[in-house]
Amino acid sequence: MAVAIALCRAGFEAEAAGDLSRLATLAGANVQPRIESGSARVIATLADWDAGRWQRALEAVPPVFIRSLQVGTGPWPLVVPNEKRPDRVTPLVEAFVALAADPAHAPPWHDPWIEYADTNEGKALSPLARALEARLAGALRERAELDPTHGGRHAQRREPRQPHVFLEHGGIGYVGTSDVATGPRWPLGIPRIRVPGGLPSRSAHKLAEAIAVFLGDRADELLHEGQAAVDLGAAPGGWTALLVGRGLHVAAIDNGSLDPRIARHPNVEHLRMDGLDYRPRRPVDWLMCDIVERPVRIATLVAEWIATGLAQRAIVNLKLPMKRRGEEVARCEALIRDRLASAGVDATISIRQLYHDREEVTAYVARVGTPRAPGRPKRAAPPGGRRAQRASGGSPYSSGRTPNRR
Ligand SMILES: C[S@@+](CC[C@H](N)C(=O)[O-])C[C@H]1O[C@@H](n2cnc3c(N)ncnc32)[C@H](O)[C@@H]1O
Repeated sequence: MAVAIALCRAGFEAEAAGDLSRLATLAGANVQPRIESGSARVIATLADWDAGRWQRALEAVPPVFIRSLQVGTGPWPLVVPNEKRPDRVTPLVEAFVALAADPAHAPPWHDPWIEYADTNEGKALSPLARALEARLAGALRERAELDPTHGGRHAQRREPRQPHVFLEHGGIGYVGTSDVATGPRWPLGIPRIRVPGGLPSRSAHKLAEAIAVFLGDRADELLHEGQAAVDLGAAPGGWTALLVGRGLHVAAIDNGSLDPRIARHPNVEHLRMDGLDYRPRRPVDWLMCDIVERPVRIATLVAEWIATGLAQRAIVNLKLPMKRRGEEVARCEALIRDRLASAGVDATISIRQLYHDREEVTAYVARVGTPRAPGRPKRAAPPGGRRAQRASGGSPYSSGRTPNRR
């Protein structure tokens, strides 16, 4: 019987269990999740688990709410009663040696991650996790059983897997692995992002994380200087600041005020109007949207922009104040998929609850293989900046607006 550990935002355990259940159904496994509200993790047993089928399921239905997922064994006691200086490394190495013998988890492996739940109690384990990580990595490297060349020249060559330890608390651990291509890219599923200081809102972290998660190594290729973006619900301007910091031209749509430093940036055009009605005069490279609205409304909007080619790519935030959050996300995804399919548009759709998302998820929607609209000029900063652009009537943004509803 395999054991899965799914880490998520505290309060979203039922949704994470929903992710597990979708994966298990597709992979032909029988999942029994233990859901403890507020624990920021789901521990589940998986009967009839098959690594290959699980892998294909992860590709077909990537989790929305699970940040980090390992499958392996446990619980393993790490501390002997009355032990003065507990040696947690030896029981963990033993558990990993047993796991390595299972072809589904066989080495080569990267260095292990030691993970814990994203709760106050979990975070208290962080010093222990850091100390264990280095010692365990050293101990695993020394073990011949874990050496990929063990078994001589006939040893199977394969991509390294990511080993994980989940510390339930200081005395209990679970070991497991994940596939590097479809598994979490960062310990605890928390990306290391750098956001320039002094931005007008913490919201910028959300967009920075979305860029890291959805665009990954292609971020500089897909989001770059000279592109045009529309930022709906832009005030006070964190997302817009991040975009102009990358050299984009941004139409910032919000009845609210932008931080003055952002409002006077030469690449920013602030339009005080309803973002749901706004349409640019010419297609743009990016649609961004952080408007607080019903998720179905935002999903309809993004589907429309991408289906009609008004934007090539979009990052939008879907707020989830309702109870049935997993179902709402599924409804939004189906809505976007159906609209794009009926328009004959091939697109990538990814929805994830990011580390910086609270009661919300973030969606990335991108047309696939669509060339730029013919004859559309590549946007560059107009000489003299925004004022000159306005004076010449050359703004790509301004004339497509519809009347303000407010
Ligand atoms: C969460 S804040 C956006 C924060 C922004 N992303 C940032 O980084 O600073 C939501 C914004 O959406 C705006 N908003 C709400 N409904 C709107 C609508 N229908 N059209 C345009 N903006 C709207 C609000 O005025 C608010 O400034």
